[in-house]
Amino acid sequence: MGRILIFTGKGGVGKSSLSAAHARSSALEGKKTLLVSTDMAHNLGDIFSVQLGKEAKEIAPNLDALEIDPAYVMEHDFQDMMRAIINMISSERINASDVDVKLFPGVEELFSLLKILDIYESGMYERIIIDCAPTGETLALLKFPELFSWYIEKLFPIGRVVVKVLAPISKRAFKLELPGKKAMNDIERLYYRLFELQQLLKDRETTSVRLVTIPEKMVVEETKRNYMYMNLYDYHVDGVYINRILPQEVEKTFFDEWIQIQAKYIKELEETFSNLPIYRVPWFDTDLNGVEGIDRIVKAVLDGQDVFAIHDSIAGERYEENDRGYVMYVTLPFVGKEDVDMHMSGTDIIIKIGNFKRNIPIPNILREYSVVEAKLNNGELKIQFEN
Ligand SMILES: Nc1ncnc2c1ncn2[C@@H]1O[C@H](COP(=O)(O)OP(=O)(O)OP(=O)(O)O)[C@@H](O)[C@H]1O
Ligand SMILES: [Mg+2]
Repeated sequence: MGRILIFTGKGGVGKSSLSAAHARSSALEGKKTLLVSTDMAHNLGDIFSVQLGKEAKEIAPNLDALEIDPAYVMEHDFQDMMRAIINMISSERINASDVDVKLFPGVEELFSLLKILDIYESGMYERIIIDCAPTGETLALLKFPELFSWYIEKLFPIGRVVVKVLAPISKRAFKLELPGKKAMNDIERLYYRLFELQQLLKDRETTSVRLVTIPEKMVVEETKRNYMYMNLYDYHVDGVYINRILPQEVEKTFFDEWIQIQAKYIKELEETFSNLPIYRVPWFDTDLNGVEGIDRIVKAVLDGQDVFAIHDSIAGERYEENDRGYVMYVTLPFVGKEDVDMHMSGTDIIIKIGNFKRNIPIPNILREYSVVEAKLNNGELKIQFEN
């Protein structure tokens, strides 16, 4: 079984450097590794001083790199899916000739993820390290498969079978019973792939999200929010990297105050993320472009650590039976009651926090039940169902 690591964080905090370092470290262990960037502003080629093409390219023993070009992937790998999306959009009575998928934010990036799914399934790599665009875009990217599936369900009679698939209770045990792949139409096929994509990205045994941060007020705040949203969408965060930590040896200088500020926020991060492995990355005396630079991180931080291990320290979204019916738990750290809006709509539970909204389809067995209570306690939203 392969392993996928997704690096996310605010702009410029060191996502590319850290993903590159993990990829190097993995390849040095002898694992066949792919380093892939979904950020349109690619820089893996710069980091490794190589020209990367539209397909994965070997850049070192056991290590391939790929800067995904969504437009290319869309045309080259997913023409049928594209057609499905265009049909879907045009069935919404938009003039078909006006349809340009580029007008739908997120659609292009969705193809980057579908491409990664294909690569994962090809079994070519034991590890896939994903270097993402800054936080907001990562969130948009990661919530898209679910959002898109939701639209398809609402617009097309895909059938109860498939709706059941997304129901969290049956997520694991369920076998997809769609018509044979040949008999499926484009929309069904797209829906099916989106389902498999979500399965993969939310599979806590395979996929981890890693947060990269630096010890500064604004970045720390944003890291907490990012963590909360990752939990809202049920992604498994199992590591935090505090980057650019100033060395203590810098004495009596301009940096004294900075060292104290950093100490304060390192402490805050350690308290906040005490349930997760935390890696401290020093501020190096040069930038980290080039293999030598990346290897400085490998030596200083990753060597001797089992950074590819799965840390199942926090529970994801889950259900439990109790004497009143069922309870659904959603992990939502660092939000106040007043920020969370939760309500039922048809067969969905809708959780809204700020600009982010998640529709969670209710499992079939709970369709007869109704929500009688929702409580936010210790970073966990508890929703009680009774019938
Ligand atoms: N610990 C460090 N010490 C010194 N330089 C660093 C360190 N971490 C990152 N850098 C340098 O900071 C710059 C930004 O790092 P990087 O590109 O990894 O960040 P990013 O989060 O991927 O940025 P973006 O959001 O633009 O994609 C690079 O020039 C990198 O070499
Ligand atoms: Mg980057």
